[in-house]
Amino acid sequence: MKIIVGNWKMNGTPELLDEMIGALGELHTENRVFLCVPYTMLRSGNVAVMIGAQNVSKYDSGAHTGEISAEMVAAAGASVTLVGHSECRKEQQDTNADVAKRAGLAIKNNLLPIICVGETAEERDAGLTYKIIEQGVRESVPANASNGGFIIAYEPRWAIGAGITPTKEQIAEAHKIIRDVLNEMGFEETPILYGASVTAANSADIMGIENVDGVLVGGASLKKDDFIPIIQSVK
Ligand code: 13P
Repeated sequence: MKIIVGNWKMNGTPELLDEMIGALGELHTENRVFLCVPYTMLRSGNVAVMIGAQNVSKYDSGAHTGEISAEMVAAAGASVTLVGHSECRKEQQDTNADVAKRAGLAIKNNLLPIICVGETAEERDAGLTYKIIEQGVRESVPANASNGGFIIAYEPRWAIGAGITPTKEQIAEAHKIIRDVLNEMGFEETPILYGASVTAANSADIMGIENVDGVLVGGASLKKDDFIPIIQSVK
């Protein structure tokens, strides 16, 4: 059993989501499938796919115009949410401490947070990959997290949307670092996903790597003909 998460980013329509849910409903798979959609498309009551958000506010409630709280996301039907995605870290200057606040509020509101970590090209070139990943996990996991009550997604920021994937050895090394840190923190049951330029052509190979419990898929999650073969590529 693997975990396959789609991240629609700022794409899609309610009609496209209807179509995707319909197609996923006809699928026989033991894998767990989540789809993180824009806030306006959140909905509940689905068995074929768990619907999730792409972020939640780091504030509980109050005077924060334009923000959406974890409580609101949960009330809209989401069961999961991304936090700390590379694009949020870049465009909203999200720090690990911000991500921990978001993840903490997600947990408080019964959402399963998928906490994203990963290094930029500059950080990799400077030999900082290990440090960034380790700090990302240690500092972004909130104090109220429980063993297995959250997911980590490793997304090398230089490979997102770039059509390039790291080597198998690079993925294995990053996931081993994360697994070791999680074990040390007492979170042995926490799944670790890989994300960045996953397609049906590479998904089975990637999910065959040690410590890879699933994938987080951007571009290839938008069309059912791209996404479903990824889900079907593994048992
Ligand atoms: P791509 O699959 O488009 O590279 O995006 C990865 C990603 O950011 C998923 O969260």
